[in-house]
Amino acid sequence: MTYTHILVTIDQGVGLITLNRPKVLNALNTELIEELVNALEKMDRDESVRVFVITGNERAFAAGADIGEMANETAIQMLLKDQFAVWDRIAHVSKPIIAAVSGFVLGGGCELMMSCDMVIASESTKIGQPEIKLGVMPGAGGTQRLAHAVGKVKAMEMLLTGEPITASEALRYGLINRVVPIEVYLDEALKLARQIASQPPIAVQMIKKAVHKAVGHGLDEGIAYERNCFYLLFASEDQTEGMQAFMNKRKPNFTGR
Ligand code: CAA
Repeated sequence: MTYTHILVTIDQGVGLITLNRPKVLNALNTELIEELVNALEKMDRDESVRVFVITGNERAFAAGADIGEMANETAIQMLLKDQFAVWDRIAHVSKPIIAAVSGFVLGGGCELMMSCDMVIASESTKIGQPEIKLGVMPGAGGTQRLAHAVGKVKAMEMLLTGEPITASEALRYGLINRVVPIEVYLDEALKLARQIASQPPIAVQMIKKAVHKAVGHGLDEGIAYERNCFYLLFASEDQTEGMQAFMNKRKPNFTGR
């Protein structure tokens, strides 16, 4: 299978997927997410792969969903297209997924990171959900997974201000596993992946599933609620204003309509 927006390699039991739209800070357009999910599912069926690593580049893991792709959509178009449904399939991947992140981990980038099972971050990582600044909210699980991971008050602060947190703060809140120098963040993730790849694969998959049961309670319902709210916000003038302002590189003027 050939891909346009991701790079895929398999080595020593580790399926490495690199997000590859560097000019737009790995903005997650529909095609990229479909490629990513297809690659994960294909390698999930491949016995030579035991663990996944998803990474980007030093400047950006991913700066969110592709704003240009959705800026002019209506709420009805968003609802009918249901572009975030494909993200649900990541939760059904049976082998562990490690995110190796650096730079911008924003919006959908943060949601993708939180869909992974472990996270190794470089010291220059900035993690946040800035959708509020676009007149919208997270739509790929951000409100739910963030609240589960860091607790209500910190999640509220991050979601309502849109301001990112540093890697060391994310570590303190249990959002990531480890912060390492930028030169080694991918190597550290691969090292962890190879360690897990050497464990008995059936037990590994059962542990993953069991942990998901421990932390996934009520998640599906919350994600469905969040997604409908996200699509509904495309009926607001603030969404149009927020996304147009981003694309025209100016400050938005929100009116509450
Ligand atoms: N979508 C589309 N393009 C994006 C993008 C995104 N999410 N993020 C960055 N880009 C593009 C920029 O438009 C720019 O393209 P041009 O060179 O053609 O102008 C290029 O990437 C580089 O970005 P900047 O020039 O803005 O770089 P910067 O260093 O000045 O700023 C940044 C970096 C702070 C990350 C800024 O790009 C930014 O704020 N990006 C948007 C972050 C965001 O709001 N993410 C949430 C998206 S919505 C979402 O994710 C919904 C969901 O729940 C899934």
